[in-house]
Amino acid sequence: MDYKTYISGKISQITDIPSEEIYKLIEVPPKQDMGDFAFPCFTLAKTMRKAPPMIAQDILNNEAISGDQVFKAVCVGPYVNFYIKREGLACDIISKIIKAGEDYGSSDLGQGKNVIVEFSSPNIAKPFHVGHAFTTVLGNSLSRIYKKLGYNVIRMNHLGDYGTQFGKLITAYRLWGDDNALNDDPIKELLRIYVKFHEEEKNDPSLTDSARDNFRKLEEGCPEEYELWKKFRDMSLVVFEKLYKRLGVEFDNYNGESFYSDKIPAVVEDLKAKGLLVESQGARVVDLEEYGLPPCIILKSDGTTIYASRDIAAVLYRHNEYNFDKNIYVVGSPQALHFRQVFSVLKKAGYDFADDCVHVGFGLVKFKDMKFSTRDGNIVLLEDLLNEAVAKTREVIVENARTRGTDMTEEEIDEIAEKVGIGSVIYTYVKSGRERDIVFSWEEMLDFEGDTAPYLIYTYARTRSILRKAMDQGIEPSSDEGVISKLTSDEEYSVIKALADFEDAVKKAANSNEPFMISRQIALIARNFNRFYNNSRILGDEDSDMIKARLALCDAVCTTIKSGLDLLGIDVVERM
Ligand code: ARG
Repeated sequence: MDYKTYISGKISQITDIPSEEIYKLIEVPPKQDMGDFAFPCFTLAKTMRKAPPMIAQDILNNEAISGDQVFKAVCVGPYVNFYIKREGLACDIISKIIKAGEDYGSSDLGQGKNVIVEFSSPNIAKPFHVGHAFTTVLGNSLSRIYKKLGYNVIRMNHLGDYGTQFGKLITAYRLWGDDNALNDDPIKELLRIYVKFHEEEKNDPSLTDSARDNFRKLEEGCPEEYELWKKFRDMSLVVFEKLYKRLGVEFDNYNGESFYSDKIPAVVEDLKAKGLLVESQGARVVDLEEYGLPPCIILKSDGTTIYASRDIAAVLYRHNEYNFDKNIYVVGSPQALHFRQVFSVLKKAGYDFADDCVHVGFGLVKFKDMKFSTRDGNIVLLEDLLNEAVAKTREVIVENARTRGTDMTEEEIDEIAEKVGIGSVIYTYVKSGRERDIVFSWEEMLDFEGDTAPYLIYTYARTRSILRKAMDQGIEPSSDEGVISKLTSDEEYSVIKALADFEDAVKKAANSNEPFMISRQIALIARNFNRFYNNSRILGDEDSDMIKARLALCDAVCTTIKSGLDLLGIDVVERM
């Protein structure tokens, strides 16, 4: 049951104020001992011509409130505080979770609506670093969240696969390319020749001309240049896809910048016809002064297109193709201005769907006490970060298994280390608000007691092992309401409330495009559950009904943590 709606309905009956209005006024008190919900009476004082505390008292005295079976109400000054009856909540929530299983938290809110989530979008022929991982992890999580809420999600990877740099690469490859090296580690080799090009170009201007020439040929579709470009693109994609696979990330398409290049003339025509293209130092721009923004360049002075024009063409394409309800760009915050310009050009051209385009920015990635054998100067490659995380997790798992005397095969250990290690990296990206810079530190991210993936996965695995152990003894979680309603202690109640709020957390995560609303909620569930677990015997209780009720709680906790981790893109393990 949705308690807030239920309470709103009751107060609405008494006050004759529409239920939706009441709903908006209801608060969640800051402390559990103040109740589960509170209704402040201040705003009613004017219409009801009474002091708020008196209104509160009147509401409380009404039979519909005082005689209610679902909650108990009390007055505190101008507030009516509601305490949900614990037995009822326990039955309600636990039955709901057990019935829904992995669908707990899902809804049909988004039915029939298309949401485009564009994320990752690395530049081909360039290393995939930890910043790309931020958009990849966030975007993957957002796609899963929208899907959970019933939206039809289109996952797009807007590859940086176009632009003058490909002319340079073609020239460089013809001069210095080494096919063996290219096959071994394509990105390393492409980066090497790209860097070399820039060094040599300083003393040899003919290289610049050759590169420009090659890019022009590429744009005109000359087969030899096209083949080379395609080779670089394909080889880069193989490398990226390996990483995506490891992270459990999939895309519906890889329509990168090149895909939109032949759609730009139509954009230019459209803007011209609307009288929006003006000349500025030889370039064609759209003036955005009325939006308080610098002009957006559409065509460079040599007539070639740029990043922004390709983005404008992409929005128009996406609108035609998908008629999106939302078009989300998960791209670092430094590009905020670029997106404001793109959306404003669309707005100025009369495309109202500009308002449905959202830039979801994020902070920087930093490192604390971490040393990497970085292959390329200062940048940390995602692959290196993942490998280190998995190796370090493996050490902890081996050590834990040794102290606990559990025996696991090498294969099992590898599999667990891979999942937990990668989970620990993903979690670091989604554990705080996305605009904040994140700091990787081994000590923090692998802390089995901290706000980490290992902690959550461990809580899950241990709870699953309790359920298995019970099963071996022939004891099953109860589904009987009379039995489940025994879960009323403070500790049990705190777990159940945290479970109940999960559904709302999923919706809030979508509304704000903040996966951390989910990580925060499952972390709360795990913490509250562990407090309960540390203070109570689950299988050892004398009351056999109590055992079964608590097993049902364990089951609901496992289901919800797993479902939450899945929304973040993290896999669980059954044993660790
Ligand atoms: N490839 C770009 C980069 O690595 C990001 C692309 C973002 N998406 C977009 N539609 N502009 O910086």
